[in-house]
Amino acid sequence: MKSIKINTAGGESVILMGGTVDDLRERLPAKGLYIITDTNVGRIYRDIFPKGEVLEIEAGEKSKTPQVVIDLCRRMLDAGADRSSFVLGFGGGVVCDIAGLTASLFMRGVRHAFVSTSLLSQIDASIGGKNGVNLGEYKNIIGTIRQPEFVLCDHNMLATLPEEEFLSGMGEMYKHAAIRDRNLFFDLSASADRIAARDPGILGDLILRSVRIKAAIVRRDPMENGIRRLLNFGHTFGHVLEIHYGMPHGVAVARGMVIAAELSAWTGEMPHAEYRLLSVEMEKAGLIREAELPPNVIGRIARDKKSEAGSVNFVLLRAVGKAIVRRLSLTDLQAFVNYYNERKDNSQSIQQGK
Ligand code: GLY
Repeated sequence: MKSIKINTAGGESVILMGGTVDDLRERLPAKGLYIITDTNVGRIYRDIFPKGEVLEIEAGEKSKTPQVVIDLCRRMLDAGADRSSFVLGFGGGVVCDIAGLTASLFMRGVRHAFVSTSLLSQIDASIGGKNGVNLGEYKNIIGTIRQPEFVLCDHNMLATLPEEEFLSGMGEMYKHAAIRDRNLFFDLSASADRIAARDPGILGDLILRSVRIKAAIVRRDPMENGIRRLLNFGHTFGHVLEIHYGMPHGVAVARGMVIAAELSAWTGEMPHAEYRLLSVEMEKAGLIREAELPPNVIGRIARDKKSEAGSVNFVLLRAVGKAIVRRLSLTDLQAFVNYYNERKDNSQSIQQGK
């Protein structure tokens, strides 16, 4: 087992890579443990849960509501929880978001940690302290940044993940490569067959490299005032697609990355050939779903939390492996969306021989 430490003013968070639940004994309290999980994870892993009160929620993004968090606080209170209680989120990205937020709010904050069961959460969602729930169609509008004491990533749990969930995690892995590590990007492409076969050796190595990228960024900027914004690459359009089409998060982000790369070429920040490289390789990895941009995409982006006073901090690429943040006006973004939709309409008419 390897460990990666993230030290911030808010405390130390340790990512335990490749361990198992047996490695947690000394890290968990003997009593006062509240395990938040979902119906799917509970069914598979209940037998190996540490000793504690199990609080189950419905599986899926639809559980990411303020009401579910309030209900969990009520259930903890009814079960006798107090300020010395410890919350263990046991599940994928949705469970980690909800458990982290519940722990942050219950009695103004109790200790918490995660056992991360999906590729998406082992690479991204459980790491870095962001916890959030959605407000209607707006993602993660209500949340906190508070580091978990530890995150256990047991890679054996990835063998049984449904394909869409696995791909969703791969989307975030490509994101880390695209923003910071060109070599990782090429290694992902070169290892495509072993990744598809879920070879634990190669996966363990790639997850470790990916998490090191995220950990290095979070250490420098835990509260997202600067460099952490790079981790939002692909998310501005991705969030809109995720909500509109109900796509898995990382798959929507992958589509959002390709759109953001095209925007990077359109604004002149990146050569067109780099956009082609990113889109071709991600398509080969099975990550690219054709998806029209929904109507009023700019209106939706304007209400996203990344927007301020008529403009957005948008993550663009200079090259595959090097991201930057640029302030773009919503007017310029609308011009790009017009170009994007027109280009798509034209290519569809050509394919249909119109
Ligand atoms: N998933 C983006 C971040 O943690 O900052």
